[in-house]
Amino acid sequence: MDKFIISGPCKIKGQVIVSGSKNASLPILASSILFDKPVEIKNLPDVKDIDTMLNLLRSLGLNIKKNKKKKSVIITKSKKINTIASYSLVKTMRAGILVLGPMLAKYKKAITSLPGGCLIGARPVNYHLKSLKKLGMKYYIKKGYIYANVKNNLTGAEIKFPKISVGATENLIIASCLAVGRTILKNCAIEPEIKDLTNFLTKAGAKIKWTGKRRVQIDGVKSLNEISYNVMGDRIECGTFCVAATLTAGDLNIKGFNPKLIRTELNMLRKIGARIITKKNQIFIKGTKNLKNLKNVITKEYPAFPTDLQAQFMVLLCKANGRSSIKENIFENRFMHVAELRRLGAKITIKKNIAIIEGKTKFEGAELMSSDLRASVALVLAAIVAKGKSKINRIYHLDRGYEQLENKLKKIGVKIKRTSK
Ligand code: EPZ
Repeated sequence: MDKFIISGPCKIKGQVIVSGSKNASLPILASSILFDKPVEIKNLPDVKDIDTMLNLLRSLGLNIKKNKKKKSVIITKSKKINTIASYSLVKTMRAGILVLGPMLAKYKKAITSLPGGCLIGARPVNYHLKSLKKLGMKYYIKKGYIYANVKNNLTGAEIKFPKISVGATENLIIASCLAVGRTILKNCAIEPEIKDLTNFLTKAGAKIKWTGKRRVQIDGVKSLNEISYNVMGDRIECGTFCVAATLTAGDLNIKGFNPKLIRTELNMLRKIGARIITKKNQIFIKGTKNLKNLKNVITKEYPAFPTDLQAQFMVLLCKANGRSSIKENIFENRFMHVAELRRLGAKITIKKNIAIIEGKTKFEGAELMSSDLRASVALVLAAIVAKGKSKINRIYHLDRGYEQLENKLKKIGVKIKRTSK
């Protein structure tokens, strides 16, 4: 299993280009099941979760032509369609549940493995199932699989999600594209990745209209057109590099992402002391040695502060002057990085879903264990500013969602290498 060896402290300087968004690519790839005509998707990040989704689509009978250099795929439908999404593929990537909606819409039946939980939480899919039922899905669960079908077609309905859910919103938008009649979805998640999905589907001829802040209307169509689409930049990768520059009192130019989509995070970094200038698809960010603490940071649904940047900001607040606190509101167990940060010298106490972070921590290099994707990148950030050498184990977690991370970090001044010893 690969590890990272990082020698700190390092100062980050230079330019980095953000890769395509993992969390926009996954629903867009899943929605390719709806198409009879070829679908070209460009700017895909070369990360494990994308490979897993492509293998899942291949297992469902889609032909995938990959152009590694152009980071694109062309997806066409084969004659042999399979409607069983197996546990072996879905267990490592919870976004596998996103094939349920399109398979029902297209093939009227599906057998999909329940995604199962992960370290950050139980990851239930009850909102997906309850809402698809309102479109006419019948299902039962047996031995960890969802056996679903629909008589004739999915039929449009008015649905209000009991709680805001990114995946459930995506599944229902995709399924409604080919349903008969109008679907209105209320209390939707509105992450930029969801808007990228609806831009993609609309460009392919779907009739989708955002009629309110969290309200979307979809009028079913018979079929979708051939399309070529460029996926947006990765919001969380961009946010992670903004934290890295601030943390190391660095000076970074980040390209490939629209800064308007991370206003909340950039304002928080300004409050902490970063100097930030934004241009179209560019961010110029300068860190400072004098980091200010933040009290009452709370993770919430977009456009509020995202849970996927919680661990990274926690590392930053360890170095700030004074005490800070972070409340994790989205997932029930998303503080796995805390125990590892304590090994580097962090002083953090946890009370239920609130972390109290003492500032002015002097991180000392240590051996660390990755747990989930974003907790792992927080360990990388801490190791970058720690004094001495750190070894980070199980970095396959990072390979799921960060493309060429060590090469990008090396280019901006980080002493990092990947080893399998
Ligand atoms: C998406 O997960 C992202 N994954 C996650 O990013 C992100 O952390 C999360 O949204 C929140 O922003 C992808 O886009 C592939 P939810 P998702 O449905 O869709 C509960 C990363 O690091 N819930 O918005 O699974 C759920 O347990 C990953 O890239 C139900 O109870 O998130 C959670 O507490 C990690 N029942 C909350 O809602 C349901 O049916 C939000 O989950 C669905 C969700």
